[in-house]
Amino acid sequence: MDEPNWTLVTGASSGIGAEIARAFASRGRAMVLTARREDRLRALANELRGRVPVEVVPADLTEADAPRAILARLAERGIALHTLVNNAGFGLRGRLVSHPEAEVAGMIALNVAAPTMLARLILPDLIARRRGGILNVASVVAYLPGPNMAVYHATKAYLLSLSEALHEEARPHGVVVTAACPGTTATEFNARTDGPGAGPASRRRRGGMSAEAVARIAVDGHCAGRAVVVTGLANRVAVLGARLAPRRLSRKVAARVQG
Ligand SMILES: NC(=O)c1ccc[n+]([C@@H]2O[C@H](COP(=O)([O-])OP(=O)(O)OC[C@H]3O[C@@H](n4cnc5c(N)ncnc54)[C@H](OP(=O)(O)O)[C@@H]3O)[C@@H](O)[C@H]2O)c1
Repeated sequence: MDEPNWTLVTGASSGIGAEIARAFASRGRAMVLTARREDRLRALANELRGRVPVEVVPADLTEADAPRAILARLAERGIALHTLVNNAGFGLRGRLVSHPEAEVAGMIALNVAAPTMLARLILPDLIARRRGGILNVASVVAYLPGPNMAVYHATKAYLLSLSEALHEEARPHGVVVTAACPGTTATEFNARTDGPGAGPASRRRRGGMSAEAVARIAVDGHCAGRAVVVTGLANRVAVLGARLAPRRLSRKVAARVQG
């Protein structure tokens, strides 16, 4: 029997990650689900298991050895990955000086270091087999510096840049690397980003596209071999505006939006 196309999704316990797992499972992919909340991962695994094989590997990706530990657990089970989805991430609103150092370090570890190391560990095998790829969940904010959310914007700019470069490196070897850039999406993300004391601007930011629609567009784009997928027409217009506007203007607009 053919080996199933195992697909690892980080941050699969909620939001966009859970929907990306559902979208890949509906394409017949065998799934590996990771995040910290094991109860949520097991509930999703039970839902998907009727259709595809599923493995759950709980992990805290802010820990430097987590990427290697996840892959070691998979190797023990005889699983070679076909696709990696770097989706786990969080943001913090407010000035850099107001954020605890540990939170800043955790954001960089989760949004930057973990996806980079997972890609570094997985790409040699994908290239050797000339198959599969990596889907990185960046953001439309990757296109703008973000006063009052500076580190988050910078992590997503990094992830977009990394993805585009790896797309070119991997493509000649039959491997696809894609950056998905969602705009505001209705998940737990914005409540966590704003913290408990957030005001009316925060409530306006809730809403946005559904996680299901974002996941479907991202997975379809990746499977079509795209380098970058900006989800939804309004977000594509916003990205065009950010790319055309002078940088000094766009950072002032971003400061108002994130203020
Ligand atoms: N929602 C938006 O408006 C929006 C817009 C653009 C881009 N994005 C990006 O989309 C991605 C998914 O976010 P979402 O909107 O779906 O938010 P979400 O519902 O809060 O999901 C975040 C996921 O990351 C996981 N995670 C957080 N900290 C982790 C850690 N230390 N170790 C391992 N996993 C961790 C969470 O699981 P546990 O808590 O169980 O660990 C959860 O599964 C993020 O990269 C985010 O930056 C979101």
